[in-house]
Amino acid sequence: MAESSGNSKTLSSMEQENDINYDCAADFVNECVLEFRWTDLSNDLIMDVGCGHDFNCCNFILKVFPDIKYLVAIDNDPSVFENADYIDERIYCCVGNIEERETLLPFVGQMDKIISTGTIDVISNKQLVFENVYHLLKPGGEAAFLFTLNHCYYNFLTVLLEIPKFRKMFKGQYDPNMYPKERRGQYYKQMLEEVGFHNVVSKVVEKKEPPPSDEDWKDILYEEFKNMFKISPHSVADIKEDLFQIYVTKIEKCKLKYMNRVLLLYLLGSKPISTFHSEVKQTTVL
Ligand SMILES: C[S@@+](CC[C@H](N)C(=O)[O-])C[C@H]1O[C@@H](n2cnc3c(N)ncnc32)[C@H](O)[C@@H]1O
Repeated sequence: MAESSGNSKTLSSMEQENDINYDCAADFVNECVLEFRWTDLSNDLIMDVGCGHDFNCCNFILKVFPDIKYLVAIDNDPSVFENADYIDERIYCCVGNIEERETLLPFVGQMDKIISTGTIDVISNKQLVFENVYHLLKPGGEAAFLFTLNHCYYNFLTVLLEIPKFRKMFKGQYDPNMYPKERRGQYYKQMLEEVGFHNVVSKVVEKKEPPPSDEDWKDILYEEFKNMFKISPHSVADIKEDLFQIYVTKIEKCKLKYMNRVLLLYLLGSKPISTFHSEVKQTTVL
């Protein structure tokens, strides 16, 4: 486990506030404030799992609760800390992997609150993550996870790969079972309860981004998908047009169309004060 310390570059809060990921993290923290009735966190130890290059969650938590003494930001990618433009001095950075308990040993049973946004989306063994977070919490500690249940771009890729022309050009990776329909709020609520969490709240939230101009929209779609397909330089304009037409007819079928639509899960739970029963239930071998 490596550590890195804060630096003193200036945060452009305006820049962060216009960012969709920051907005999602901010909405989620606000939900935690309401659900868990957070008021004074000045004596709490808080961890952000998968903080990412922009430290969205940490920065918003510090904005709402300026009395926090320090926050632990963990990420399994060291470049997050090495290349960050700004790290608040109250953020304690730590390279750690939430799937590998041994990388987080100093924090076992220490944390009052653990939050994670947009990190466990791509981790297939979510139960392992929930178990490891449970292990890091103090009795009575609280955990909050935000992750994607479905994404319009994934549905778009599914549609593209049904079209022979695009299937032939495809050079990316596609998991046909990335967002199974049966794994929604109730499925993960039950999983969190099986790990031992109490008072589990699961809420499905849809976020939509309004469309820009058609020309900008074509560019944005192309940028998003260009690396997944072999595209010859002379066919770029045609592909841009194709992608756009397919998107606005097959993915956004209604008159009012959105550029981006994502189904998110807010999943919150508490570790009981007495954990005897919950600890003996855990079975995952690490
Ligand atoms: C999409 S970013 C989300 C960043 C931030 N939480 C946000 O909401 O903007 C996901 C981050 O999780 C980190 N990550 C992915 N798997 C992880 C793991 N197993 N343990 C710790 N961090 C992980 C990635 O390195 C990346 O920085």
